[in-house]
Amino acid sequence: MPAVIRLDKITKVYKVGVEEIRALDGVDLDVGQNEYVAVMGTSGSGKSTLMNILGCLDRPTSGVYELDGQVTTQMGAASLARVRNECIGFVFQSFELMPRLTALKNVELPLIYSRDGWWNRRKRAKAALQNVGLHDRIKHRPNQLSGGQKQRVAIARALVANPAILLADEPTGNLDSATSVEILALFEELHRRGQTIIMVTHEADVAKHAKRIIRMRDGRIVSDLPIEKDVLYHVSPIENATPGENGNGKHTNVDVMPTATAAQSETLV
Ligand SMILES: Nc1ncnc2c1ncn2[C@@H]1O[C@H](COP(=O)(O)OP(=O)(O)O)[C@@H](O)[C@H]1O
Ligand SMILES: [Mg+2]
Repeated sequence: MPAVIRLDKITKVYKVGVEEIRALDGVDLDVGQNEYVAVMGTSGSGKSTLMNILGCLDRPTSGVYELDGQVTTQMGAASLARVRNECIGFVFQSFELMPRLTALKNVELPLIYSRDGWWNRRKRAKAALQNVGLHDRIKHRPNQLSGGQKQRVAIARALVANPAILLADEPTGNLDSATSVEILALFEELHRRGQTIIMVTHEADVAKHAKRIIRMRDGRIVSDLPIEKDVLYHVSPIENATPGENGNGKHTNVDVMPTATAAQSETLV
């Protein structure tokens, strides 16, 4: 699997007065094409700093960042902006849509520097909205959309330029649980279609949709495991069991009955 992202000994030090904060403290990381990675860790562990560096929104203090075969850490501002525009799609917790623009115009924005004419840009933006199930909301402005719909617009905007990676920092952080499930289903669909996804979350329920779990503490990666080997996978034995083991393969409330039999499950779901 070719690496899309390669980080080598990345550090990020913030100076606040005389104090130095090591937000990232020697991070090595390879992410291959079509991986679906969740980055977990307590508040202040460096997750957003890592995402901002991966997204070329910020530069590391030291270390090397290679994105899609290009060493970004040696690039000037203009090249970095081009790489960001062509290779990265970003989704934020707070959507970050332009309030006065329609969904369609919001999604068209990243194409402003593309060589496409306006007709093609519009066509691509419409297709991106169609891909997230919002073809019937293209003329709505953000305040005329629900939270989940706003996040769908943001995802369409992130993907309209076909980026190599989709970065999502707490993408379900402002959504209720039913809407979060919808957005996670959309991520899963994008992953199936080949999209590389890196998502930050502090919620186990969200992270367990990913295929690889990276855990951070004090600016370092302290664990990096496929989902099957991470503790997350083992906290919900029934949910993760094969259909034969719990009789129906449906989601079951594990906290209530960790060792339920098939017959018991039938009565409780
Ligand atoms: N712009 C900044 N200036 C100074 N310190 C910062 C800045 N951004 C983040 N930090 C500090 O860096 C550490 C990591 O922050 P962050 O990456 O936002 O963590 P997380 O997203 O995991 O909550 C924290 O101690 C935070 O206070
Ligand atoms: Mg954060």
